[in-house]
Amino acid sequence: MFGKIGRNDPCWCGCGKKYKSCHMEFDERLKQLKNEGHTVPGRNLIKTPHDIEMIKKSAKINMACLDEVAEKIHVGMSTQDIDDIVAHVTEKMGGIPACLNYEGYPKTVCTSINDVVCHGIPSKEEILEEGDIINVDCSTILDGYFSDSSRMFVVGGETDPAWQKLVDDVKKSVEIGLEHVIPWEPMGNMSDAINQFCMSQGYEVVREIGGHGCGKEFHEDPFVSYVIPQNTGMIMAPGLCFTIEPMVNMGSHNVLVDEDDEWTVFTEDGSLSAQWEVQLVVTDDGYELLSW
Ligand code: MF3
Ligand code: CO
Repeated sequence: MFGKIGRNDPCWCGCGKKYKSCHMEFDERLKQLKNEGHTVPGRNLIKTPHDIEMIKKSAKINMACLDEVAEKIHVGMSTQDIDDIVAHVTEKMGGIPACLNYEGYPKTVCTSINDVVCHGIPSKEEILEEGDIINVDCSTILDGYFSDSSRMFVVGGETDPAWQKLVDDVKKSVEIGLEHVIPWEPMGNMSDAINQFCMSQGYEVVREIGGHGCGKEFHEDPFVSYVIPQNTGMIMAPGLCFTIEPMVNMGSHNVLVDEDDEWTVFTEDGSLSAQWEVQLVVTDDGYELLSW
């Protein structure tokens, strides 16, 4: 990954500047961290300002979809109705739904209710009931750039206080994670902050599924786990773009995949699960949210 570039050659990022006045110092810093034993991102994972601009345009559609769902969601509608809303907004704004046909996934969004952890498939037969908690996970492609975020909704606006607390706490855990997105630090510092908070509230974070690099592909490296220790995981170098999307269970972290549809992920013990997802880019002094 540290191919030989002369100091005065054009920088690999395509900015047009000389290497020495752009990413040379950046590469040297990563090389040093690699020598110290850290996992470092390859150049292919570092987004340029142009990439970021394009991801933001994609994210504008992604967030408009979720805003529209927030406005229209109500008791008695089906999860297919949610899928239709997202399909309509995405098409109207010129995007492509990233989920549709992704590894054979049959719908535009994922709708995961109560004990469904993620990848719930929208259906006309599945009707939203008062007090349900639902995650709507939306992903968009625009001009080849990917955006990805998800939000929780409480159907009818009110639910059991313990369910509401889970929804609020998982959002809070993402905010705590974001406080630990510090450039040049290992990702495990962010992961562990989320895990510790969730455990302190009596929850367990799902292990097998997590966040991911995102931008030029739907799912890029690194895999973003919440159960890796501090001081491990990929270095959060400026330009690294990824999602934070913990799935948090009120009971055990164990999950099962529906044997019939091969997508829907449930909690093994039937306990409630919630998730929020944001997409961000690491910057020189912190991070910038791209989609939420
Ligand atoms: N949007 C999910 C994520 O956050 C991925 C869903 S894949 C699908 O990574 F095929 F189920 F849509
Ligand atoms: Co994601």
